[in-house]
Amino acid sequence: MFEQLIRGWDGEQVVVRYDRLANAWMLVGVHSTALGPAMGGTRMKAYRSPDEGLHDVLLLSEAMTMKQAAAGLDLGGGKAVLAVPRVPEPGSPARRELLVRYGDLVESMGGTYVTAADMNTGEADLDVVGERTSHVLGRSAACGGSGSSAGATALGVFHGIRASVRQAFGDDDLGGRTVLIQGIGAVGSRLAELLRDAGAQLLLADLDEARAAGLAAALGAGSVTAAHHVFDADCDVFSPCATGGVLSAESIPLLRCRVVAGAANNQLATPWDAQRLQGRGILYAPDYVINAGGVIHLAGYERLGLDPAQVDTRIADIAETLTGLFEEAERLGITTAAAADRLARERLDAAKS
Ligand code: NAI
Repeated sequence: MFEQLIRGWDGEQVVVRYDRLANAWMLVGVHSTALGPAMGGTRMKAYRSPDEGLHDVLLLSEAMTMKQAAAGLDLGGGKAVLAVPRVPEPGSPARRELLVRYGDLVESMGGTYVTAADMNTGEADLDVVGERTSHVLGRSAACGGSGSSAGATALGVFHGIRASVRQAFGDDDLGGRTVLIQGIGAVGSRLAELLRDAGAQLLLADLDEARAAGLAAALGAGSVTAAHHVFDADCDVFSPCATGGVLSAESIPLLRCRVVAGAANNQLATPWDAQRLQGRGILYAPDYVINAGGVIHLAGYERLGLDPAQVDTRIADIAETLTGLFEEAERLGITTAAAADRLARERLDAAKS
């Protein structure tokens, strides 16, 4: 199965290591180094089989290539998975030892792959990885890093929602617009704050309903929608900030929004779902363009030496990039997802030639 999956992928290399001590698979995908070292986060997860972890690595590393290219960063696309039998407790010796051995693996790749945080990994984990390799972004400030990028991702999505609302409704005033956020985690909760401050009405949904209710109360705005009701709830903007694959042949016919604009990676279940959205007159902000605030934060602070005002300006530019894509899609009669792919591929082709 490993071989079949890898043969259907157009990336550069996959590094597979079986770690007997933790009974874990370490999988690193280097999709492209055309623009620079392959950069992308490390996901720690208990998969049903290592094949599922590899599937994530292949898909997500490609999305990282497109994200860095569309954001105009001198970075390539990569992604890593630590496929563990059970996610070890934060701060536990087992977790630390696994991360130390993983740091050695990243170091052995000589800078071809640069890691960062992803699902179930954060600053403290990267500090441990950073004991063994310098090819890591997003360590804590105490260890010389720029910390979590979730706030920057949320800021980029906020700018992207404004640009999408302007395109769909003619002006970008969020006052009175209803935004449904699916997933009130690190990104979704910060996005909710920004939207509340801009006067939007919020609908919050999370598998953890108590978390959604707690945030609604803390913000003094918004109400809670059951997680299984996100697709058929009335709203202006549906913002997927939980997990991938949520826009599908099953969910798209149910949507009652004008805009889809959120942080989750790989939101479209299949490439045809972009056409399904277009067919329903729903404006889609391509995921890897609108959620690039995090990589802009990491690369901006730790590779380009930008100051906070310069990083914020580059994150705000996401709005302009999206507006350009919406116009290009209209002009060429293609989906907004296809317009984003064209932009990213142009930059990659220019770098290759
Ligand atoms: P997180 O793990 O902090 O939050 C995810 C939240 O979604 C959790 O509260 C979880 O309970 C909830 N959730 C999961 N499945 C759900 C479902 N079916 N319905 C409703 N709620 C559900 O993750 P984080 O960091 O907030 O990221 C959110 C999304 O954005 C992820 O897909 C991530 O890959 C993507 N992303 C995050 C970036 C970052 O800087 N943190 C950067 C780019 C993309």
